[in-house]
Amino acid sequence: MEVTRERAWQTLTEHTRSEALLRHALAVEAAVGAYARQAGEDEELWRATALLHDFDYEIHPTLDRHPQEGAPILRDQGYPEELIEAVLSHAEHLSLPRDTPLKKTLFACDELSGFIHACGLVRPDGIETLEPKSVKKKLKQPSFAAGVNREDVYKGAEGLGVDLDEHIRFVTEALRPIAPELGLRTQADAA
Ligand SMILES: [Fe+2]
Ligand SMILES: [Fe+2]
Repeated sequence: MEVTRERAWQTLTEHTRSEALLRHALAVEAAVGAYARQAGEDEELWRATALLHDFDYEIHPTLDRHPQEGAPILRDQGYPEELIEAVLSHAEHLSLPRDTPLKKTLFACDELSGFIHACGLVRPDGIETLEPKSVKKKLKQPSFAAGVNREDVYKGAEGLGVDLDEHIRFVTEALRPIAPELGLRTQADAA
């Protein structure tokens, strides 16, 4: 089969109703897609992988099932191993090697996208003027977006070999164009 972003979106929405999960998928897609473009990688494949990384979370909401029981579903649908392996590797509890740029990028963007999204939700202009400095400050406040694993954020940037500030800036910029889809306010709303 030909892997397309559209096909992945279809698979995702067949298994996912939650708006929060769909927004998470879109955010990670935007970040991973931007990295693919920057690196001259297969953007369609990378976007599809990001969209699908949590596709089974609603049907397998526990770590004894997610994402390992989602993998056979993707395989049945004809998705390539490269995508499936990357999806599996985002899960820390599986301890799989992150030995491709796609795996490293997916892991680095997963928790951070969620965190930047959370930062944007408490600002009058969403993420439009959000700077790495204030994201880093919030990372140090354990009570803020407590569900985001800080270790994974730091480890992700390190694994990707990018400076944390640069990474935060890059992901924030990637999310800006889809802010309305993510339910974030924009400068127009703040004015
Ligand atoms: Fe996950
Ligand atoms: Fe995720």
